[in-house]
Amino acid sequence: MPDLSVHIGRLKMKTPVMVASGTFGYGPEYADLVDLNKLGAIVVKGIARHPTRGNETPRTVEVASGLINAIGLPNPGFDGFVEQYMPFLRQYDVPVIVNIWGKTIEEYAEVARRFDEVDGVHALEINVSCPNIKEGSGLFGTDLDMFRRVVEAVRKVTDLTLIPKLAPNVSDIRAYARAAEESGADAISLINSVPAMAVDVETRKPKLANVTGGLTGPGIHSLAVKLVWEAAGAVRIPVIGIGGIVTAEDALEFLIVGASAVAVGTASFTQPTTALDVTDGIAAYLERHGYGAVHELVGTMSSE
Ligand code: FUM
Repeated sequence: MPDLSVHIGRLKMKTPVMVASGTFGYGPEYADLVDLNKLGAIVVKGIARHPTRGNETPRTVEVASGLINAIGLPNPGFDGFVEQYMPFLRQYDVPVIVNIWGKTIEEYAEVARRFDEVDGVHALEINVSCPNIKEGSGLFGTDLDMFRRVVEAVRKVTDLTLIPKLAPNVSDIRAYARAAEESGADAISLINSVPAMAVDVETRKPKLANVTGGLTGPGIHSLAVKLVWEAAGAVRIPVIGIGGIVTAEDALEFLIVGASAVAVGTASFTQPTTALDVTDGIAAYLERHGYGAVHELVGTMSSE
């Protein structure tokens, strides 16, 4: 059996396959369907300092290439999350990565500072790339100066492994990858959803209450592979590849272009065991190709 373990900052994972924020709830929602202990990590839905309700419905719409969502980051707030979900998550031998967000730089720093003291939280994914709220989050991911300031502010208040999640809709992803590294991030994850919309032609109304949303699923996979390749080439910190993973082959593409780990997102909605199936597929591929460890495959794309 090849060695599947991956180290990202201080985070130690048994496998390179985690589940992406926003597609796996806070863990309990999938616990009857998936052996959580076999996941590389669980990245929980975004948490802010205070509870929020999210957007009006409809919040999701299926399209030919995937799913467009405009959930709007509803969340139980820091206190609600720690009280309601951390006792459950602490029962498992799986790293917990908390996706954090705020409307101001101070809010990001405040929620990060509080998580620094929470037993059982292993890393923070900094959500600067949600396209679905009017203040904060997404705005920080498409303005390089603001992006730097958020990462620096969070870095100052915590020793937890920090993973900014990059937006795809920027002119040069390498600039954001480098800014993350220079600002003290331990890794980067990419991509978040791609801004998108859908219209009901009979009513001529938008299909989402928020009008616009973020596209995820198979339709964004090839775009994500290209951006992960560019980002991985620009930095020395590990990269986590996200975007439209359905099969082991999709995940292997990310590893080969330079990602050290991957996260399965939208596919968990239709097949909850996708992350575990992808893990098995990666292990079988490594064996078939004579690799002793998954890290040996990272960044091995051939140019011949
Ligand atoms: O609308 C949402 O809750 C999506 C969040 C995200 O893409 O980070």
